[in-house]
Amino acid sequence: MFDNQLYVTCRWRHQWLQRGGAERNLTPIESCGAEEEETGAMEPAGDELLFYVNGKRIVENHAEPEMTLLTYLRRKLGLTGTKLGCAEGGCGACTVMISKFHPHLKCIVHHAVNACLAPVCSLHHCAVITVDGIGTVASRLHPVQERIAKAHGSQCGFCTPGMVMSMYTLLRNNPEPSMVDIEEAFQGNLCRCTGYRPILEGYKTFAKKSACCGGRGRGKGCCMANNCNEEDISEDPTVLNQMYDPSKFIPLDPTQEVIFPPELLNLGKQPPRQMKFKGERVLWIQPSTLTELLDLKSHYPESKLVVGNTEVGIEMKFKNLLYPVILAPAYISELNSVQHTKQGIVFGAACTLTLLGEVLRDAVAKLPTYQTEVFKAILEQLRWFAGKQIRNVAAIGGNIMTASPISDLNPVFMAAACKLTTMSKDERRVLKMDDNFFPGYRKTALKPEEILLSIEIPYTKKGQYFSAFKQSPRQEDDIAIVTCGMNVVFKEGSNIVEKILLSFGGMAPTTVIPKTTCKKLIGSAWNEKLLEDACASLAEEMVLPPSAPGGMVPYRRTLTLSLFFKFYLTVKHYLAVDLQHENVTVEDVKPDYSSATELFHKDSPSSVQLFQAVPPGQSSEDFVGRPIMHLSALKQATGEAVYCDDIPCYENELHLALITSTKAHAHILSIDTGEAMTVPGVVAFVFAKDIPGSNITGPAFYDESVLAEKMVTCVGHIVGAVVADTQAHAQRAAKVVKITYDELKPIISIQDAIDSQSFYQPVRTMKKGDTAQGFKDSDHILEGEIHIGGQEHFYLETNCTVAVPKGEDGEMELFVSTQTASKTQALVAKALGVPANRIVCRVKRMGGGFGGKESRSIILSTVVAVAASKVKRPVRCMLDRDEDMLVTGGRHPFLGRYKVGYMTSGKIIALDVTFYANAGNSKDLSFSIVERALFHMENSYNIPHVCGTGYMCKTNLPSNTAFRGFGGPQGMMVAESWMSDVALACGIPSYEVRRMNLYNEGDLTPFNQRLEQFTIGKCWEECLDISNYMKRQGAVEEFNRQHRWTKRGLSIIPTKFGISFTSVFLNQAGALVHIYTDGSVLLTHGGTEMGQGLHTKMVQVASRALGIPCSKIFISETSTNTVANTSPTAASASSDLNGMAVYNACQTLLQRLEPYKVKNPKGSWEDWVNAAYFDRVNLSANGFYKTPDLGYNFDSNSGRAFNYFSYGVSCSEVEIDCLTGRQKTLHTTIVMDVGKSLNPAIDIGQVEGAFMQGLGLFTLEELHYSPQGSLLTRGPGMYKIPAFGDIPVELQVSLLRDSPNDKAIFSSKAVGEPPLFMAASVFYAIKDAITAARSESGLSGPFRLDSPATSERIRNACEDRFTKLCPPAEPGTYTPWAVRV
Ligand SMILES: Cc1cc2nc3c(=O)[nH]c(=O)nc-3n(C[C@H](O)[C@H](O)[C@H](O)COP(=O)(O)OP(=O)(O)OC[C@H]3O[C@@H](n4cnc5c(N)ncnc54)[C@H](O)[C@@H]3O)c2cc1C
Ligand code: FES
Ligand code: FES
Repeated sequence: MFDNQLYVTCRWRHQWLQRGGAERNLTPIESCGAEEEETGAMEPAGDELLFYVNGKRIVENHAEPEMTLLTYLRRKLGLTGTKLGCAEGGCGACTVMISKFHPHLKCIVHHAVNACLAPVCSLHHCAVITVDGIGTVASRLHPVQERIAKAHGSQCGFCTPGMVMSMYTLLRNNPEPSMVDIEEAFQGNLCRCTGYRPILEGYKTFAKKSACCGGRGRGKGCCMANNCNEEDISEDPTVLNQMYDPSKFIPLDPTQEVIFPPELLNLGKQPPRQMKFKGERVLWIQPSTLTELLDLKSHYPESKLVVGNTEVGIEMKFKNLLYPVILAPAYISELNSVQHTKQGIVFGAACTLTLLGEVLRDAVAKLPTYQTEVFKAILEQLRWFAGKQIRNVAAIGGNIMTASPISDLNPVFMAAACKLTTMSKDERRVLKMDDNFFPGYRKTALKPEEILLSIEIPYTKKGQYFSAFKQSPRQEDDIAIVTCGMNVVFKEGSNIVEKILLSFGGMAPTTVIPKTTCKKLIGSAWNEKLLEDACASLAEEMVLPPSAPGGMVPYRRTLTLSLFFKFYLTVKHYLAVDLQHENVTVEDVKPDYSSATELFHKDSPSSVQLFQAVPPGQSSEDFVGRPIMHLSALKQATGEAVYCDDIPCYENELHLALITSTKAHAHILSIDTGEAMTVPGVVAFVFAKDIPGSNITGPAFYDESVLAEKMVTCVGHIVGAVVADTQAHAQRAAKVVKITYDELKPIISIQDAIDSQSFYQPVRTMKKGDTAQGFKDSDHILEGEIHIGGQEHFYLETNCTVAVPKGEDGEMELFVSTQTASKTQALVAKALGVPANRIVCRVKRMGGGFGGKESRSIILSTVVAVAASKVKRPVRCMLDRDEDMLVTGGRHPFLGRYKVGYMTSGKIIALDVTFYANAGNSKDLSFSIVERALFHMENSYNIPHVCGTGYMCKTNLPSNTAFRGFGGPQGMMVAESWMSDVALACGIPSYEVRRMNLYNEGDLTPFNQRLEQFTIGKCWEECLDISNYMKRQGAVEEFNRQHRWTKRGLSIIPTKFGISFTSVFLNQAGALVHIYTDGSVLLTHGGTEMGQGLHTKMVQVASRALGIPCSKIFISETSTNTVANTSPTAASASSDLNGMAVYNACQTLLQRLEPYKVKNPKGSWEDWVNAAYFDRVNLSANGFYKTPDLGYNFDSNSGRAFNYFSYGVSCSEVEIDCLTGRQKTLHTTIVMDVGKSLNPAIDIGQVEGAFMQGLGLFTLEELHYSPQGSLLTRGPGMYKIPAFGDIPVELQVSLLRDSPNDKAIFSSKAVGEPPLFMAASVFYAIKDAITAARSESGLSGPFRLDSPATSERIRNACEDRFTKLCPPAEPGTYTPWAVRV
């Protein structure tokens, strides 16, 4: 038994990691003398915690109640496959499977769980399976690992282990899942790179009955919905639509899985005993009986009960709350029981939401439908309640007792008048769940010594109707804006209201009942008059102060009416049907209103990807142009790919946490570290005075400081850092450092900056033609503006640096997650006061970058390096998600103001546009970003007279920075806004206006660059064709005629994106190629790998250039000591630049090998290499490339700005719910010109990933700042990026064929950024749908729609009788919760 046992203690961590903690196969640590001695010196802190990880037995004598399973896995066991993306249960990167013998269900249950929230103490007698435990590349891949990789579902790979484990758990429970099961399994997983489609496609191969062949059936078998037909899929053999061969996938064999440990099975059947774990600050007690629990609660009335820890975990981590005693009642049978009674079903308070759902689903299937109205409503709420991982652990009692005003279940429980049973040592009470139950914000009627025992959910009766609604920014895994339960009982055989109970969440500090309204409606007939009375009364009763937390006040108020209206219609329909049986006639819902009663529903997505086949005769060893898999994908899927924070800890390593400003603009008066010094494990503080070199820094302009000294200029400004033995200690200390400030008035928004003329210089202007004359010549002139919100990068891997001082000559080695190794090297050297040649910066890979690690990563690296040089020990810092979002800035918010002159025909003659970009507290890269917006201000339209001006607003926000598209999308978005206005003003379909204004081959841009090899016309035609645009347009119009409260919209949008850094000097790249004597090739180039497949493409380039298979070529990392002075991996240009540099190096080597080839033409690559070696030939070569003929001059408006342009056209169709503002994308076609694709799988991955990121930008993602400049949206809970459920129902991507580009390597084109703007087609399709909704209220002509088109904006724009009842407060009369920046 001992052989199979892994004893883990606190002190051995470093040895374990040094000795192979990061290795794949866990080997038991022998209880050697030295370790026993160390262990023996420590008092056991309570009971032994026994659990299994990946089949290995673990006994932990010092279980720390504050430690999560994730930290335990990564730091204690060295199992770094499981990733940390957010620490709040919101991203799924940390998903593992937990199995246990369920004492009440009497079976083994397997659940996907967020390791970041699971306290390690909760794992007693559980078995944990992580991604590291199910397969490895070298031994055996698990089918779930293989399929995600080979289906191209892993780009940066940081989300991949979580995806793998969600799917793995699903298959453990159900080896033949349906597509719906698969989609449900991923509700709690986020990916920022892939756009989700390939993940679903890969895993669809496990589904019982594949929902759709994705068009691959090509013909009779093709099941694609609606518009898919045989003609859609080309029969041309040069066009391919399959990027992998599923028939070669390893079959799933459920008999091969790790079994549940027999020991745990036996232990699980034995009666439990009380367990105690004592940690540094917290005592964890797991009572085994209800009596024990009640005794303990009476002894520790302030203790917290913890079941799922999905609420308490967040409070402790992010709200800095400390609960010294935790009681874990998860195993107490009374709290886990389910009893069916005459009145309803009674659930123990610790029953999980998953169990709740299963029991209710079963009841709905078995009981008469009138009896289960409440159950169905709860099931509807559960559909949209968090993700599977949360529902698997979160308890009903936890949801009730948290007393959150936006709880999804409490309004339903309240409207259903559920009964709660509470208990203390001395008393048992039954409380009705009404508005007395929540006396205040996050308060309940329970006494401190009481616990919630159970809840009774009642059956409904005939003549009773019940609905629940939830409106959230994102449909899946999101907290509600407004949520409600609605219950009505009619007098028998009539439509007269006998009882009505409405309950709302999101409308007050507690869940509330609009009592006056409910009272008023009793005795009324269910008709139009009741609706009017109800709405008028709700509008009066459901008021919110204009500065209410959460904002969106008019929207929230309107929602209460809109949702009631939906309930009204739903009940009206049921009444009409039910009363008909009783011979009472009640008018049914009008057909054009009926869609308002439908619950949100989305079909399983389907897709098609089309790309060009390689030419016939291309060697099978030449992989250029073939859809080969990302070279790290398999390692990413097994968790073996090493990211910065996966590097094993050094023996004497320390952890760093940042001390940041809480004020936007202030003088620092004092910094007090007194309390922080008392936190255990603290080693040092780092402030500006500790910087040995220069505190002045900045990626393009030296206008920032590494650490703020006298003044802070944004919330999140880094003032200092704490270095401690663990991350937890460092963070705890950082939080108690006290800074006193003398506050100054901050400038937060673009409007503030305009008002105070706070701009960085210079202000850029670009001009072509004569705008004054153009306006004179125009038939009409219109003016307008659009605000485009910022965007958080939300790379799944946050910023991370490990700095290792080398001990001599000021040398330091940095492991960094950065897109810019050379700049990091240079600025760290500057801060340390050493020459750059002492600093080596190494980048293995990043878990996503998107521009966010182009410059803003450097400050963190510099602070960590300064700390490491101060303490002379390795220092590590991986930012938590909230810190990362707070300090690093994101995409620039833009305000675009425009004046357009146009003819009645829709032809545009003149444009005057001004951009204001919110740059934040330093210039960073804003200058180039504003320039790029100007370079894209006309998008793809030929306008004779143009003038654009760009301002960089200097504000007190964290410096905004590069983000995929780099100002281009904002510039083009403004263009599409005036284009849409012109179409609306002229009353001409927008696609016609867009088409007539498109450029043609040879036209000149506003910056006087001639458009050559211009393919937009070709893309446009193909897009119209594939999307069936004209047919679709007719169908949309017909749909809109038939539906009053649901509208559809359609739009087609082009893009033209200039490729090159606009700073000319950056358009250079280097490469270094070594050939070793065994023939293997080590390739290094200046670009970094962040998931975009750059290394894969570079290997393909080298493979073709050298004429050897890809398998002989390896890229280890990017480092400043192999290729010097590299440009950041950015501007989409890295494949072009580095590809040419790699090619150049390979050519040099080929020339050197040529004599040996000539001498031995039949020899192998290895023969030639060996012959050259023995002949003393240098088998290493540098390559270099600089893009020729670049150099635009703003003053003279001459010179080439770009090497070439990438083009694309996209069409989208959407459907909006006019009552809630919810939208779904029904269809998207994208035709993208990527030249001759180097790798169609990677390019399509970039197109789809960028599109989804753009979809987030233009429809969903909203950063909220307080009026004082504090970011309120600091994690996936508050900031929503698109999830699986947001992908278009139909997605067709086509890479334009026969369009080689003579300006880049092997005729390819850049692809990283250009497709992002294709998501604007969704935004303008939404605008089109809103236009249709507005026309129902008699509104026509241009209207303003800012980006993102969130449900709030959509609803507010669909003006109707309900919005009129909830007008916004007069601006300036109140302080809003959040301001638009
Ligand atoms: C990512 C994420 C998404 C979420 N999404 C949603 C959502 O969509 N909708 C929604 O409504 N909520 C959501 N939540 C909130 C949370 O998941 C729920 O409130 C959940 O039901 C809490 O249950 P738990 O067992 O995890 O609670 P815990 O964190 O274990 O406990 C929560 C509170 O309840 C108390 N408590 C628990 N049981 C008892 C008892 N028997 N007697 C007395 N007190 C008790 C605890 O002391 C504590 O104060 C989300 C949370 C996360 C992290
Ligand atoms: S890290 Fe656990 S869900 Fe994000
Ligand atoms: S591959 Fe999913 S986050 Fe990068």
